[in-house]
Amino acid sequence: MGLLNDKRGLITGGAGFIGSNFVRRWYDSATSTLVLDALTYAGDRATIADLEHQDEFELICGDICEPALVAQLLTSHNIDTVVHFAAESHVDRSISGPAVFVQTNVMGTFTLLEAFRQHWESQGKPEHFRFLHVSTDEVFGSLRVDDPAFSETTPYAPNSPYSASKAGSDHLVRAYFHTYGLPTLITNCSNNYGPYQFPEKLIPLMCVNILLGKPLPVYGDGQNIRDWLHVEDHCRAIESVLLQAEPGETYNIGGNNQVKNIDIVEQLCELMDDLGGDLPTRPTQQLITFVKDRPGHDRRYAMDISKIQRDLGWQPKYDFATGLRQTVQWYLEHRDWWQPLLSQDYQRYYAALYGDRVEQSEF
Ligand code: NAD
Ligand code: TYD
Repeated sequence: MGLLNDKRGLITGGAGFIGSNFVRRWYDSATSTLVLDALTYAGDRATIADLEHQDEFELICGDICEPALVAQLLTSHNIDTVVHFAAESHVDRSISGPAVFVQTNVMGTFTLLEAFRQHWESQGKPEHFRFLHVSTDEVFGSLRVDDPAFSETTPYAPNSPYSASKAGSDHLVRAYFHTYGLPTLITNCSNNYGPYQFPEKLIPLMCVNILLGKPLPVYGDGQNIRDWLHVEDHCRAIESVLLQAEPGETYNIGGNNQVKNIDIVEQLCELMDDLGGDLPTRPTQQLITFVKDRPGHDRRYAMDISKIQRDLGWQPKYDFATGLRQTVQWYLEHRDWWQPLLSQDYQRYYAALYGDRVEQSEF
């Protein structure tokens, strides 16, 4: 098994939710850490501010779609490992504005692959080089309640512009392995939760709204199911794949933890009632509001994780009750991190997405 401290890594999207959690883990053990992040609405310098002035750590504010910048970084920092998180990642935003998803997720991944291929070839195709592409379970489409979980051989059937753009990027990564022999890896993971998640995704949005005494908007009938995994477990899985997997492999990652949206929101309410102290509204369950459904809303995702368990010995460590409690506590203690993110842009986004929905509630 290899070691991270042998590696010179470029981490794209390292100022976002999962990327920043991974960067902390990587920085603790690797020789050198270079983060490339465009600092979009989802990327926040403050998230990795504690690392910015450390030795052997560098944050470049730039776009993965710029070939010259990417090529120059790979060469000047002698990169041998790319861990690619940078993406547009929110399904609701992909419905209202799909173009940037195609640009970042498809063209951005293509730009990185092509630059990395040229760098790898110019160095004589070293065997230890790796390009790990971080992807999602959403590329497999939607399951019915009784369907078996997605495996690595489930056919792709993306349903949203987000998942279609991630599927496109996965196909490019696969093609670079098969055509050029580039040592690539793909991980497809289920929904993550934990510290530093931008407050427009389900769990942080509900935490923040409870703290502000605002309605908790549950789409449709609240019966949609996701397979939730703590972000630290995801980062450990990525590290295992990077260090142990054969080039060209793909691995599914998930929490063996299927939960209905309404059950999550109710658990969050209970936790906040318990931990939240002086809240604007109590009991917080009265804030739950069923709103008009997301168009094309996938009903259920679930991951079969037997391949990564068997091949690499990886297992999720967090049970959901512990992880959710820790996450609620984190949002309670880090108002200084999330409050500045509720900017005018965020308010505009929120009004556009939820304004009509609440009025058109069907439930
Ligand atoms: P995020 O939206 O929190 O962060 C994305 C990061 O990418 C941000 O820091 C943003 O500034 C950066 N970025 C966006 N466009 C860029 C560009 N053109 N150039 C450089 N940087 C750019 O996303 P996340 O939730 O941390 O997800 C990270 C990756 O993991 C994504 O590829 C996503 O598809 C995948 N994934 C996420 C989940 C989840 O539950 N969040 C689950 C499975 C897979
Ligand atoms: P999200 O965090 O956007 O992740 P994804 O759609 O990629 O799985 O949403 C998780 C689930 O929560 C999804 O079924 C949509 C639902 N949801 C709500 O019911 N209300 C909300 O305000 C949000 C943001 C999501």
